Amino acid sequence: MPTYRVQTPSRSYSAIVERGIIGRAADHVPSRGKVFVVTSEDVWDHQGPALEQGLAGRPHEVLYLPGGEEHKRLAPIETLAEEMVRLGADRSSLILGFGGGVVNDMAGFLAAIFMRGIAVIQIPTTLLAQVDAAVGGKTGVNLLAGKNLVGSFHQPLGVLIDPALLETLPEREYRAGLWEIVKSGIIRDSNLFWFLDKHRTEVLARRAEAVDRIIADSVRIKAEVVSADEKESDLRRILNFGHTFGHALEAETGYRRFLHGEAVAWGMRAAIFLGERTGHASAEECVKMIETIRHYSPIPALEGIRAENLLARLVHDKKAVQGTVYFVLPVRIGEVKVVSGVPDRMVLDAIQSALAA
Ligand code: GLY
Repeated sequence: MPTYRVQTPSRSYSAIVERGIIGRAADHVPSRGKVFVVTSEDVWDHQGPALEQGLAGRPHEVLYLPGGEEHKRLAPIETLAEEMVRLGADRSSLILGFGGGVVNDMAGFLAAIFMRGIAVIQIPTTLLAQVDAAVGGKTGVNLLAGKNLVGSFHQPLGVLIDPALLETLPEREYRAGLWEIVKSGIIRDSNLFWFLDKHRTEVLARRAEAVDRIIADSVRIKAEVVSADEKESDLRRILNFGHTFGHALEAETGYRRFLHGEAVAWGMRAAIFLGERTGHASAEECVKMIETIRHYSPIPALEGIRAENLLARLVHDKKAVQGTVYFVLPVRIGEVKVVSGVPDRMVLDAIQSALAA
């Protein structure tokens, strides 16, 4: 199974995509230092026994974070840090971030700031975390004012991606992850996009061959992009396709109504409408992109959300610089462009269309 190298100035490591790798986790854990598994109760109940077995008798402590995007806040990080000190953690300790995107982001952030930085290995258990959150070293928590507004880049020692863990993933979570994969296709790989377009049945039925292929492609793309631009000063910005709008939707709805991937699906719709209206992409390509996003529907209803509020939130996104909002817009399937200076009325119009679509 494929291994992708992420090579950044701060660390080089492997993201390994391999069925059953969780059962061999001990092979990837350095022999020195106390091990702390940071997870949520729900994940530990369902997947903990497999990781226990994979740790092959290596002593470890299990620490729980509250699940859900609405709990992705600073307070639980402090609680866990206190607990780690009580349990004898030191600078040689290692965190295993075992869970979905929220757990990976928070476990990574805890590792980034505990004693000014300790090692973390990410073991993502949801599709979204496997193809995005766990790879690339972005860690952090939300503020009421916006998503991921407090955080740090902290690259892991490695990422262990086991597609077999997805067999029991709830359908809604699975679809939410698929939209991040659609994103990868739109931004950088038309073959992946057309595979998702043509093989919807196999993908939704979670056929191993299809699932392994789309995960591997997405991890390869993520590894390439992060290796080229670790700190998001240039190329990495393309990974935010759909996210600028999606983050506004998540914040506006208190992080409770939409899963991150669902908000990204909606956000991609808005970005595609904007790409068409600003003349960056052809109407024909935009229709195809919207159609493929719809293939993996549904997303929760959008009633009651005001386009004006979403527009106001865009300037609070951390990607806005001195009030200038940067949008990642499609040029064609497999290529996007970072654009600024788009008039508010065009943005509002695209948001309205995406809310109505
Ligand atoms: N999720 C976007 C990034 O990792 O840059």
